[in-house]
Amino acid sequence: MGKESNHYYFYSAVQGNLDYYIIGGTTLKDIVTNYTYLTGRTPLPQKWTLGYQQSRWGYSACQEEVQAIADNLAKYDLPCDAIHFDIDYMDGYRVFTWDKDKYQGNPKKFITKLNQQGLKVIPIIDPGVKQDSDYHIYAEGLKKGYFVKSADGDVYINKVWPGNAAFPDFGRPEVRQWWANNGKFLTDLGVAGIWIDMNEPSTFEGPIPDDVVFNDQDTPSTHKKMHNVYGHNMAKATYTGLKEQTGNRPFVITRAAYAGTQKYSTVWTGDNRSMWPHIQMMIPQLCNLGLSGFSFTGTDIGGFASDTTSELLTRWIEGAIFSPLLRNHAELGTRQQEPWVFGEPTLNIYRKYLKLRYRLIPYLYDLFAKETKTGLPIMRPVVLNYDQDPRVRDLNDEYMVGDDILVAPVVQKSQFKRLVYLPAGNWVDFWNGAEYAGNQDIVVDTPLDKLPLFVKQNTILPWGPLLATLAMSR
Ligand code: NOJ
Repeated sequence: MGKESNHYYFYSAVQGNLDYYIIGGTTLKDIVTNYTYLTGRTPLPQKWTLGYQQSRWGYSACQEEVQAIADNLAKYDLPCDAIHFDIDYMDGYRVFTWDKDKYQGNPKKFITKLNQQGLKVIPIIDPGVKQDSDYHIYAEGLKKGYFVKSADGDVYINKVWPGNAAFPDFGRPEVRQWWANNGKFLTDLGVAGIWIDMNEPSTFEGPIPDDVVFNDQDTPSTHKKMHNVYGHNMAKATYTGLKEQTGNRPFVITRAAYAGTQKYSTVWTGDNRSMWPHIQMMIPQLCNLGLSGFSFTGTDIGGFASDTTSELLTRWIEGAIFSPLLRNHAELGTRQQEPWVFGEPTLNIYRKYLKLRYRLIPYLYDLFAKETKTGLPIMRPVVLNYDQDPRVRDLNDEYMVGDDILVAPVVQKSQFKRLVYLPAGNWVDFWNGAEYAGNQDIVVDTPLDKLPLFVKQNTILPWGPLLATLAMSR
């Protein structure tokens, strides 16, 4: 923006009208509050969702592998609250199925066992429904006319993980309710939340043509018009099902979203890579999402694609330790990146930060409670709190947690000192109690185990108990 001229911004829509919403306010905080008054706020999450979550594409192909992860988390004294099950747990990537052969015939028994170890189970669900007349979800969706159709009236088919697949028409209320009800298969097994993916919707054989018929509530529309709200509507359906079936505050994680999806789901930033520019990107990405109403967000810690390194993983867990959604996730075929695989000192440092996170859960939870009233994000750019300070307008390598904690992660390779800008006020170094006046840059040492952290003077930081899991507290 502002490339053509510094004097104006120009927006246009490729087709049709563009609605403008002008959000007023005298401070940046007012504007975020007013914007989220319009689009909605993240409801108070269940407390355990703020705990650490371990994931990897591939684990769930085999019960023994998931069990080994759970055992290692306990063995290495790593607090954790959830394990994510990627697409491998399903029967041939058919959504709302579970391959029993991979789970000694009884996935429910295994999920119960993990729950008893304090670990919740979060399975993935994609929108693409395998085209297979012997598969009940496809057969029912077809019979009831719940899938989007080509302009000629046939069910539209494209390829995703299961091969040929049909796509539910989530714009329609009855399709959303059908999807919500299908989730009962999972909640009956004991899952605690649902991770929804590929819901842009993403397809392997080229994009869905613009003229494919999608409905907007009860009115026929097009893919072109409904594309951006597809993920939003899938999140809404998933949220509804979890709420109806469990009675708990739903935990949904989505990849695709739209203005307002924060009411139904958390988001993660999709497929990043294990490289330094992507840990650098994490700070502005999550801060911008926060300014856009998304208070519950996170990145794939350690990086999703390509192989991570011990140094990158260490700096990532440090830098992300206050990101509301705290999940380590990696792509199939990449180097393992669980906290213990690199040995020491990675494991010790990783544990130290997870424990710090668990101690500060009451602080984070309080911020969420406040957010439900103000829309102000938990993790936020320094400029949100100091919008009159020109120094912080493009500050992309520091962030704040609420009003009182300032975080200056190391996001460069081999950086053992960094400059930290402290805004107005007095600041206390969290690690050694040293006091600093604000409105200045200071140089801090950043050995591998150090995340520079500053607390506003005279803050009372609630310090919670050190739990191995929050799973029992809602
Ligand atoms: C794409 C998602 O972004 C990623 O997180 C996931 O592991 C794969 N799909 C496989 O389900």
